[in-house]
Amino acid sequence: MKIPKHVAFILDGNGRWAQERGLSRSKGHEEGYKNLRTLSKYILNKGVKVFSIYAFSTENFGRSKEEVDVLMNLILVGVKKYAKELAEENIKIVFSGIRGYPLPKEIITVMDEVEEKTSNNTRGILNICLNYDGQQEIVDASNKLVEEVNNGTLKLPITKDIFNKYLYQELPPIDLLIRTSAENRLSGFMLWQASYAEFYFPKTYFPDFKEKDFDIALEEYNKRDRRFGKIKED
Ligand code: FPP
Repeated sequence: MKIPKHVAFILDGNGRWAQERGLSRSKGHEEGYKNLRTLSKYILNKGVKVFSIYAFSTENFGRSKEEVDVLMNLILVGVKKYAKELAEENIKIVFSGIRGYPLPKEIITVMDEVEEKTSNNTRGILNICLNYDGQQEIVDASNKLVEEVNNGTLKLPITKDIFNKYLYQELPPIDLLIRTSAENRLSGFMLWQASYAEFYFPKTYFPDFKEKDFDIALEEYNKRDRRFGKIKED
């Protein structure tokens, strides 16, 4: 069984999971968070080296104040708890996204602390995308590059490898990208890194996507013929 090096996950369907049960959307996010804690350990224990998750997009700030507050609180309390558990398992935690307004200051402090505390961990990486937008990531990297070219610290030509170092985090390409809840789109998630990813779109809502579902995703991944634009030789 081939194990993908980098798995990325769009945690979708928390709201619908709750609504279908007559519960509040907040309850759906809580269930999603609980599931994430179990699932991420399982995925990293399988030998996946990098696990990226879309926790909150820049556009998500456009939801109702009530829902944004619930999510920010869940993320604030959750990141601390979750990071502590993963740190004990030698996992390094990094964040991708704009580390500034409208993210609350307390969250930014926690993000910096968690990154610092786990920076020497070596077993794997959890990349949490927070206040994230993939097009913005490419624009931000371009601005940094141009600045360094202008002040002479970086010389042209820029290669793909160099560009990759200017993104929020320097990560390997995504091998397997999963989005739950039967939505078949990227919504700005890791556009650069997803260039050759295999996509998998299960119908399950995220709170119901369990370890056995990840095993099915892995089986499906193993059936895919990844040619990277080349022709398979007999
Ligand atoms: C998408 O479901 C989910 C989110 C916008 C939030 C996901 C975040 C978490 C599960 C918490 C992560 C916590 C930490 C600590 C990293 P949706 O609300 O869009 O669902 P819907 O499409 O059914 O409405």
